[in-house]
Amino acid sequence: MSDYLFDNVAAETEGRFSVLEERYDPVSTRQLALTGVTSGWRCLEVGGGGGSLGDWLGAQVGPDGEVTVTDLEPRWAATRSRPAHVRLLRHDIVRDPLPGRDYDLVHARLVLLHLPERLSVLRRLVSALRPGGWLVLEEFDCGWMPVLAAPDEEAAKLFERVHATLMGLVERAGGDPLWGRRVFGVMRQAGLTDVTATTYAEAWAGGGTGIALHRHNTDQVAGALAEAGITDEELARFRALLADPAFVMNSYPMVSARGRRPAGTTQATTR
Ligand SMILES: C[S@@+](CC[C@H](N)C(=O)[O-])C[C@H]1O[C@@H](n2cnc3c(N)ncnc32)[C@H](O)[C@@H]1O
Repeated sequence: MSDYLFDNVAAETEGRFSVLEERYDPVSTRQLALTGVTSGWRCLEVGGGGGSLGDWLGAQVGPDGEVTVTDLEPRWAATRSRPAHVRLLRHDIVRDPLPGRDYDLVHARLVLLHLPERLSVLRRLVSALRPGGWLVLEEFDCGWMPVLAAPDEEAAKLFERVHATLMGLVERAGGDPLWGRRVFGVMRQAGLTDVTATTYAEAWAGGGTGIALHRHNTDQVAGALAEAGITDEELARFRALLADPAFVMNSYPMVSARGRRPAGTTQATTR
């Protein structure tokens, strides 16, 4: 099993998935559409979380295509009904054999950032593509999220301190908070062609849906934050700040990168 920090068993998971779906699905679906995904394509959605993007892909490829949605813990995606050509699989992308090969499109959003084995997983995802197939990776760059407005300077400093501590926990679990800015380069190094990337960010005001992501994440690891030196009083002020419309911060910028497996390359093994 992975040491994934925000495991999907915790109660906070549902809230986290609904923020990701609401704030980032419109971006992801635009990016995925740029690959030309259409009727009959075979797609792999890795670490599909709540399952919304797998369902969107299912609608694009129709019954002549197929979509495999994987997750270490697929219980949330399993609550949605889906057509027969969209398959949901409990699957560890680090350790299990790939669920298939020759995919037209492989997509993962906010998964590799958390995996210590992210580079070998990237190579595995490339090997799962047919020649000419697309890999789309979408990852946060957690290193650029300035506070845009705050009731006072103290509030901005508190946010930065709690968030920096949270990022320390991500790193301790083997994650890379700056992975988003590295994705373009590693996709090129992995031999993909036509690599391109777009970055999306928006303002998140206290009390809004986006900023609630910080509430879900910090609630889930509150014990570890306390061990890392965040006091109960600081956490309470942090939570109040997230509900205060006078506090506005930049969202996590999401880098959406896509590239193609070169045509004519030999098929690697799935393991
Ligand atoms: C931050 S969530 C993102 C979920 C979804 N991709 C989205 O963007 O809405 C990360 C997801 O990756 C899954 N995950 C973590 N490690 C994994 C692994 N080794 N294999 C497959 N899925 C994994 C988690 O269970 C979780 O659903």
